[in-house]
Amino acid sequence: MPEAADHRDGELALRVGAEIVAILDWSLDRGDQSLIALYEQAKRMQWNGSVDIDWRMPVDFGALLPVGSEFAVATFRASPIADRGRPCWDAFRWQVQAWMVCQFLHSEQAALVASARLAEVVPDADAKFCAISQAGDEARHTEVFGRYVRMHVADPYPVNEALRSVFQDALGARDWDFVALAIQCLVEPVALAGFRLAGTTFHDPLIKQIVAKVARDEARHVSFGTVLLRDVIPQMASAELADREEYVLTAVELLRRRFLLADVWERMDVDVQVGTAFAARDPGLSAYRQALFSRVVPMLANIGLLTPRVVDGLSGLDLLDGAARRVIERQTQGRLTSRSRLIR
Ligand SMILES: [Fe+2]
Ligand SMILES: [Fe+2]
Repeated sequence: MPEAADHRDGELALRVGAEIVAILDWSLDRGDQSLIALYEQAKRMQWNGSVDIDWRMPVDFGALLPVGSEFAVATFRASPIADRGRPCWDAFRWQVQAWMVCQFLHSEQAALVASARLAEVVPDADAKFCAISQAGDEARHTEVFGRYVRMHVADPYPVNEALRSVFQDALGARDWDFVALAIQCLVEPVALAGFRLAGTTFHDPLIKQIVAKVARDEARHVSFGTVLLRDVIPQMASAELADREEYVLTAVELLRRRFLLADVWERMDVDVQVGTAFAARDPGLSAYRQALFSRVVPMLANIGLLTPRVVDGLSGLDLLDGAARRVIERQTQGRLTSRSRLIR
């Protein structure tokens, strides 16, 4: 390996080898109508991060913040930094924002590489169109988050260790559906929920404008993930399905672990074990994690992976809110109904 490239490994780069099969589709057949519609939408909804975002908007990073919701205040009072007073709580909230934006930035680049990979390996031309237009979107997302971080985050966070493992596993997988599962069905729905929560979790108008633009694209990418996998997973043999269940549970555990905020506690000079143990049990932070994962359960239901084993795993990780439980109930009732039809 060239020496010039070596210094970029570790915190500054990730290399993943993978055995893949590139496919060209010369059939002239049009694919799924949903893919055609998503691609048309992608062409219509292009935007330019250089001119469509008002980069002159002020970002007073570190400024005092409004008190926040009752939930947030209760979380602060119970937290390991409560005795350091309100200014420290505000500093923590700004650090959480900086950490979130940096993880969005790292995730966007992983999504860029993953969607470019999908363009190469998915069998249908229409799916390739969607994948490569997504890669263009992800380039724009990486560009705008990178610009924000360079302009306003004095000490950017490296990629979170758990998130890095998710990217490494996904990009090293032999079967393309693992890439789609990790990025389209888990990382993107969590990011999309994070963007929708920006009104309460982010503190300046510039980042709110950026995530509003990015979220419109991500909603389309999440739909693309559903269309890609909804006919693939239900046709799998039980051993293949078990591998996907296992994979989902491992990836979800890693994605949840990053929201115990180890990187932020460390930055705030809080013992990481004390900080993460607090984050794991605090009702406010638990509700926040459930909100972040609220789109994952419908996604798994749509692609046929909300199996009893996966539901058990999600319950054990305290990631199911009321809406998610209702999706599970509806699915369970549906299964029972179709089983009783079969018995009759
Ligand atoms: Fe993105
Ligand atoms: Fe995306």
